[in-house]
Amino acid sequence: MSTVLLDKDRHDRTRFNCGVDALNSYLRMMAGQQARRDNSRTFVLPDAANESQIIGFYTLTMTPIDLRALPEALQKKHHSSTSAGLIARLAVDQRYRGQGWGEWLLIDALKKLLHASDTVGFPLVVVDAKDGARDFYTKYGFTAFHDLDYKLFISMAEIRASFAR
Ligand SMILES: CC(C)(COP(=O)(O)OP(=O)(O)OC[C@H]1O[C@@H](n2cnc3c(N)ncnc32)[C@H](O)[C@@H]1OP(=O)(O)O)[C@@H](O)C(=O)NCCC(=O)NCCS
Repeated sequence: MSTVLLDKDRHDRTRFNCGVDALNSYLRMMAGQQARRDNSRTFVLPDAANESQIIGFYTLTMTPIDLRALPEALQKKHHSSTSAGLIARLAVDQRYRGQGWGEWLLIDALKKLLHASDTVGFPLVVVDAKDGARDFYTKYGFTAFHDLDYKLFISMAEIRASFAR
């Protein structure tokens, strides 16, 4: 199994339903356009048994770092950095829920961001967990920013160490 860039001619976006309208609509109406404009990249995991069906997707881009919302040690370490990688969206279709695909997609997204950071250098990955998935991310080592409960981060150093284990 591997993720591929969203291709509207190959992937049936209309059948995708993760239970969150905003995420479904984003995949249907915005993801392709945002990629064409180089604003973000959306990767989908197709079902090997029927490649048009999307098991899940995630969207990657960059985001500014609010240093003041980080723990003091990280503020010092990263005071000259301005940008973090962002998992802007990540969702699994309800038909495939609870089978480990959310974890699989998160690991895949983090691998891609780690690889990108080997080239352009950025110290954190941020995720916006507004849609009730906060505990999903904390389970994998993400920490909430001081000021925003639903915005979480993990350092590139932690990601690298967890893949080295
Ligand atoms: C959150 C989501 C991606 C999880 O996908 P999934 O394929 O069902 O998750 P997995 O089967 O890989 O679960 C992995 C682990 O996370 C846990 N988990 C799953 N969803 C969770 C949630 N919302 N909160 C806390 N833990 C969660 C599972 O219990 C499992 O734990 P275990 O290994 O101890 O049993 C999926 O529920 C979803 O798409 N939700 C709607 C969209 C959303 O909220 N996206 C995130 C914001 S962009």
